[in-house]
Amino acid sequence: MNTLFPGYFISFEGIDGAGKSTHIDAFSKLMQERYSDREVVVTREPGGTPLGEKLRALLLEAPMNLETEALLMFAARREHIAQVIEPALRLGKIVISDRFTDASFAYQGGGRGLSLAKLDDLERWVQETSDGHLLQPNITFLFDLPGEIAQARRSKVRVPDKFEQMDLGFFEKVRQEYLRRAKADPSRFYLVDATQTPEQIWSELQALKIKL
Ligand code: TMP
Repeated sequence: MNTLFPGYFISFEGIDGAGKSTHIDAFSKLMQERYSDREVVVTREPGGTPLGEKLRALLLEAPMNLETEALLMFAARREHIAQVIEPALRLGKIVISDRFTDASFAYQGGGRGLSLAKLDDLERWVQETSDGHLLQPNITFLFDLPGEIAQARRSKVRVPDKFEQMDLGFFEKVRQEYLRRAKADPSRFYLVDATQTPEQIWSELQALKIKL
């Protein structure tokens, strides 16, 4: 558990089409109601800072070498941690991020095949605090569902970006890497069965007691 800072860090993860974004807004409002003495900061990756949002636009559209993609994801993350996440956590705020490092392991590692050892190095480099601890979310909600169901849901929405255009095999590999990360760190992950209806998922999230 991350007890480095007085704040509390929550991330939402899952393959595209898992439905996590639908719940982030409502969940952040719920947290704000429950913890009215704390400020809730909602943010996203890639993005979350002016530079990060510029990198996001490139990352989601431009074809690029796999290492370049991973380095840009982590460059955006470094800026996000330095400018937004760490200062907020130091002030005791609740930070809710739509994706964090697990997405790099899942997409660049699992999906695209970048060596997990390289990702471990980047994670350590970018998330290590000055006193040698590794910044991680206190809790990560992983919206898990089979690739085919996510694909069917995605086809009903907006024009797909670079990642959303990938095939089923890619998303199955992304899912498996998310599940591997969850298994390796069960105290941080909370698995949401994303085959449920949005109403069922919302009741589950509402019923969850999060102790800050
Ligand atoms: P979003 O659709 O959830 O906003 O995320 C943008 C896309 O970026 C999504 O397809 C996942 C991908 N992504 C990565 O490939 N690696 C990462 O490290 C992050 C944060 C996102």
